[in-house]
Amino acid sequence: MQPAYYEDLKEIKKKIWSMLDNAVTNRSSPFRIPVFICGNQEDFDGRIVVIRKSDQLNSLIQFHSDIRSDKIPKLKNNKNASMLFYDKEEKIQVRLKVECIINHNNEITRESWSKTGHISRKCYLVDNGPGTKSPTPTSGLKSELDNFEFTMQQSEEGYKNFTVVQCRIKSIEWLYLAAKGHRRARFELDDNKEYWLVP
Ligand SMILES: Cc1cc2nc3c(=O)[nH]c(=O)nc-3n(C[C@H](O)[C@H](O)[C@H](O)COP(=O)(O)O)c2cc1C
Repeated sequence: MQPAYYEDLKEIKKKIWSMLDNAVTNRSSPFRIPVFICGNQEDFDGRIVVIRKSDQLNSLIQFHSDIRSDKIPKLKNNKNASMLFYDKEEKIQVRLKVECIINHNNEITRESWSKTGHISRKCYLVDNGPGTKSPTPTSGLKSELDNFEFTMQQSEEGYKNFTVVQCRIKSIEWLYLAAKGHRRARFELDDNKEYWLVP
């Protein structure tokens, strides 16, 4: 039997948001770690990020990053980016075109930082930003930090680097692989258009 979303655009949208919502809390969801692609005409690049929030009402998803990472100046230059998800079990690929908002030291980052635990805060405690050249192999952390020997109070030091990237979804492309025939659909959120495509 084919799933409800096989030939129903409304069901597809429902399925996409249920997968994004689930990804936020379910560590084993493949949708939790999409590829995020940004850049300019000469140089664009993809990297894995972790989805931390999904908000269908405002067509937003967000991830956390370090303000010093290479993607931040890229996004300041060009806010248009893309996100790519694939769930092998479900045989579903989702491609998002998004517009990014960089949040640093504001209400949004304060809220997310307060929910960021001891282990995750470690990433923001590196002395030099991600991508800085090092003469030796390194985690970028002082050795006591490497061993998680820091208090929650000391982890506050990382807040100055903590960034929340909000991705406002402009369009969604869906691809479902099925033996009976693949199905592909596109949703333009800005002008409320949705249509089927040849896979
Ligand atoms: C499983 C996994 C999860 C990751 N999650 C994030 C993340 O949420 N945010 C982030 O900025 N980088 C994350 N990274 C690291 C990035 O993939 C990338 O290496 C880093 O952001 C530096 O890339 P950039 O300088 O091009 O931005 C993750 C990497 C892996 C393998």
